[in-house]
Amino acid sequence: MDSLLIKGGTPLRGEVTISGAKNAVLPIMAATLLTQETCVIRRVPDLSDVRFMAQILAWLGAEVHVKNGTVRVTAKKIKGSGDYDLVRKMRGSICIMGPLLGRLRKATVSLPGGCIIGARPINLHLKGFEALGAKVVIDSGYVEASAKKLKGAPVFLGGRSGSTVLGTANVIMAAVLAEGVTVIESAACEPEVVDLVTFLNAMGAKITGAGSPTITITGVERLHGAEHEVIPDRIEAATYAIAAAATHGEVTLRGVRPEHMHAVLDKLNMAGVKISREGTNLTVGRNGRLKPVDITTLPYSGFPTDAQAQMMALMTLTPGISIITERIFESRFMHVSELTRLGADIEIEGPSAIVKGGKPLSGAPVMASDLRASAALVIAGLAARGTTQVNRVYHLDRGYESMDLKLRQLGARIERVEET
Ligand code: EPU
Repeated sequence: MDSLLIKGGTPLRGEVTISGAKNAVLPIMAATLLTQETCVIRRVPDLSDVRFMAQILAWLGAEVHVKNGTVRVTAKKIKGSGDYDLVRKMRGSICIMGPLLGRLRKATVSLPGGCIIGARPINLHLKGFEALGAKVVIDSGYVEASAKKLKGAPVFLGGRSGSTVLGTANVIMAAVLAEGVTVIESAACEPEVVDLVTFLNAMGAKITGAGSPTITITGVERLHGAEHEVIPDRIEAATYAIAAAATHGEVTLRGVRPEHMHAVLDKLNMAGVKISREGTNLTVGRNGRLKPVDITTLPYSGFPTDAQAQMMALMTLTPGISIITERIFESRFMHVSELTRLGADIEIEGPSAIVKGGKPLSGAPVMASDLRASAALVIAGLAARGTTQVNRVYHLDRGYESMDLKLRQLGARIERVEET
């Protein structure tokens, strides 16, 4: 398994172009299953999760071409079930279920288990399918949804932590070809859901209200091919912004949508980080001491859980106490023990981490446990004295396009050590 060797202490300086959003492109790729015609998706990041989704689509029978950030899919004839274990490998692939049910009236996938960040049930996805008239059966580790006919209906998708992002995507995609009107209440408001809806509407769907908790889908008979450019990745942008602040650097993030980043930018601003905006470029820098800030993760437009670990890394460098509360995923604190290995002082109390920041970090070998935890360890390593070795880099490759290369271009001393 590859690892990253980071010699810390160099401020990041320069410009970095933000890639397309992983969490937008995965459901959009799944949505191409809803039509027999060709769909073209641009600004697709080169990530292992994207390659995996391409494999799933191909396995289902679609023709898939991925080249230079463009994915072209033609799903003329597809199958909706089979003996495969794909969803367990990448949880995001659960979003093939909605389109398969919508188009074929039948979808069988292996039931995703929990993962390192929490239990991650899919009860709300299944509740939505049932509301549309599907019969859902769970048997031998598989979940099958099938319906003779899907009929539009009211669907309430609120759960214990607010709404569900992929659940909203799945129910929308099952409802676009249903008969009649579906109204989703307590829908996820994330920009990635809005991007999916933009793509579906370009395919001929009739969906209004995306970005609000009420989304209305008027079923249509068929969808056609469409072209789409994926939104920039707000979490990748947040990660580089935090890394700039952590290293006393100044970085211009090119091609972002600052309006998707209010919660993160507000907290950085409160912490004393300087941020200036020019169109779709954001320049983030730091010259003085930072102040601690308390953070609670929430559904959009609250502070994103996907930037919690990175922000914690920054707070370990900030003199004072900050309290970071995780409200979306119950065990998303796997980075805490590894940050502690670098010298951070963090205690976990229920859903909160109490960070006593300001002690200097020093490099050490650390183990990445999930995608965002890995990003936090890279940020800490960039700011620490000495050398940090981040093991299991495949987690980072799932969600950050060429992170080591991008960081090197910003002046970081970071090398990928390939497994021989
Ligand atoms: N939940 C339920 N029932 C369900 C679905 C979700 O109780 O049927 C709960 C979850 O357990 C969690 C909360 O609802 O407590 C929110 O989960 P959600 O369903 O919104 O998460 P997701 O759609 O599976 C996506 C992203 C995650 C991101 C979350 C929250 C993709 C591929 N994944 O997951 O991204 O953390 O939304 O914003 O879009 C990441 O990129 O590192 C990542 C984990």
